[in-house]
Amino acid sequence: MNIWTFEHEHDLNATGAGIIAALLQSKRKAVLGLATGSSPVGIYKELIQMYSKGLVSFAQASSFNLDEYVGLPEDHPQSYRSFMNEQLFNHIDMNMNLTHVPNGNATDLTAECAHYEQLVNDHGPVDIQLLGIGHNGHIGFNEPGASLTSGTHVVDLKDETRKANARFFDSPSDVPKQAMTMGVGSILKAKQILLVARGEDKAEIIRTALTGPITTECPASLLQCHPNVIVLLDRGAGRLM
Ligand code: GLP
Repeated sequence: MNIWTFEHEHDLNATGAGIIAALLQSKRKAVLGLATGSSPVGIYKELIQMYSKGLVSFAQASSFNLDEYVGLPEDHPQSYRSFMNEQLFNHIDMNMNLTHVPNGNATDLTAECAHYEQLVNDHGPVDIQLLGIGHNGHIGFNEPGASLTSGTHVVDLKDETRKANARFFDSPSDVPKQAMTMGVGSILKAKQILLVARGEDKAEIIRTALTGPITTECPASLLQCHPNVIVLLDRGAGRLM
């Protein structure tokens, strides 16, 4: 595991974007595993800049997002589909037909989970999986627990996760109670993982996840089993490392 802590946000963003751009330059049909939340946004901004300067093209790449809320229509402002369109896809030359976000509004959620898992397997393996981390160690929406589900599945969100994500909604009660997420097994199939964390409030969970015991009670700790993980931390998140 390569753990890098940056003094300046710009250097973190440029490094993350540089890793993804280098992949796209050597493999135009790269399969990108993408994430939402505030952590990857600076990297997306940097990628958009690189694209606008003609340094990188996404035209032949495909993408799979980790997760989506259950019950929000695709065009809901807080859906992860809307987030991806606004933060990245609308600003680059990505073929929208090759961007995938689980459909959390499907009538048959079990069938949608199986379908999404199959799609990832058919197009995969994911070349690089971008990840954030929740304060309780969740990755995607894989919440801590006595066991973890390997493939794409529906989860009940923990209260702490709903609280943390309430900042994006008009009212805390608007945060959906469930989400659909790729499982930890699906995530670990990626060839390379790029974990990003920012802020002092992530310092404790970063230390626990990266140096503590490997346990389902901290889903991100399973990343210790992956042979190719790069961790990008700002000064706050890297404070205890
Ligand atoms: C959500 C997402 C995760 C993300 C986490 C942390 O729960 N499902 O994929 O990693 O939030 O978000 P942030 O980066 O905003 O702290």
